[in-house]
Amino acid sequence: MLYRTIDPERLPELLCKMPKAELHMHIEGSLEPELMFALARRNGVAMKYPSVEALRGAYEFDNLQSFLDIYHEGTLVLKTEQDFYDMTCAYLERAKADNVLHTEIFFDTQTHIGHGLAAKVVVDGLYRACQDAPAKYGVTASLILCFLRHLSEQEAFACLEEVMPMREKIVGIGLASSEAGHPPEKFARVFARAKELGFRLVAHAGEEAGPEYIYSALDVLHVERIDHGVQAIRDPELVRRLARESVPLTVCPISNLKLKVVHRLQDHCLGALLDAGVCATVNSDDPAYFGGYINENYTQTFAALPLNATHAYQLARNSFQASFMEEAQRKQCIERLDKVFETFYRP
Ligand code: ADE
Ligand code: ZN
Repeated sequence: MLYRTIDPERLPELLCKMPKAELHMHIEGSLEPELMFALARRNGVAMKYPSVEALRGAYEFDNLQSFLDIYHEGTLVLKTEQDFYDMTCAYLERAKADNVLHTEIFFDTQTHIGHGLAAKVVVDGLYRACQDAPAKYGVTASLILCFLRHLSEQEAFACLEEVMPMREKIVGIGLASSEAGHPPEKFARVFARAKELGFRLVAHAGEEAGPEYIYSALDVLHVERIDHGVQAIRDPELVRRLARESVPLTVCPISNLKLKVVHRLQDHCLGALLDAGVCATVNSDDPAYFGGYINENYTQTFAALPLNATHAYQLARNSFQASFMEEAQRKQCIERLDKVFETFYRP
């Protein structure tokens, strides 16, 4: 209630300055065309596009699959541990600029194994950047390994096995890539094994596919958070369940717009989810491809929807509440959030 006494004109500034966590960001989706071209040169990889501008010009998508095709091409420039380190540092620097205190970074090894790399090259580069992040950027970072759902469960098991020597570098397991036709049930056994191994569990569900994928992610995979989950809005009983059971949704509004999940941000369900008591969060998904890091997601969404400072506080608080950070850190992050809000109160 108190937060309604903040001047609405200062809302964009508040959205940018408030501390936040990012819980849904694919590191390969943060690879900006400039760095992609630099890595291509460094590794002697030929680029399909003649320039950075031409590549950016190709970033027009009809749906998730049309994005995944071009996203996959972009990953071909990544060859060495240093490439993965540099890509992650570039993202962390942007995250710091957006007042992100903590990030849980999605990555996959299956794409890169398909290009002849070892999983260790990927994980070591990402993890070294995460370890350097607090001192270098004032951000804490952890890693979530996503299985690619268009591949088989057997391949996901092989992927899990290959990262086991690096178990301590990975906080959780997720599920990404082409959603429709690849339901959560396909990965029931490998998620059960990951749970036994002590990984935290998340899954993309209800991005393009319907509410039934969200039910399955919860009831079959036993995930703790749903990535996207926006199709829940089609099922009021599911929305009530998500609120009742405090299941966080990592929502990515600009991604939904660019992949035509919604046709206008004005039609986005984020406000409705929050008002129904769902623990929704705002995230950037693949910021280099969709043209917006986390603060841009906040500012564009708030400009399009009837959201106020109370919603802003709730979203930032939810991001810490939904994160896999330790309780002491969570408490500190929420204290920092409260301090920033205090400086925005009207006298
Ligand atoms: N991989 C990267 N971005 C993704 C998205 N939005 N959905 C599914 N898989 C992804
Ligand atoms: Zn995603």
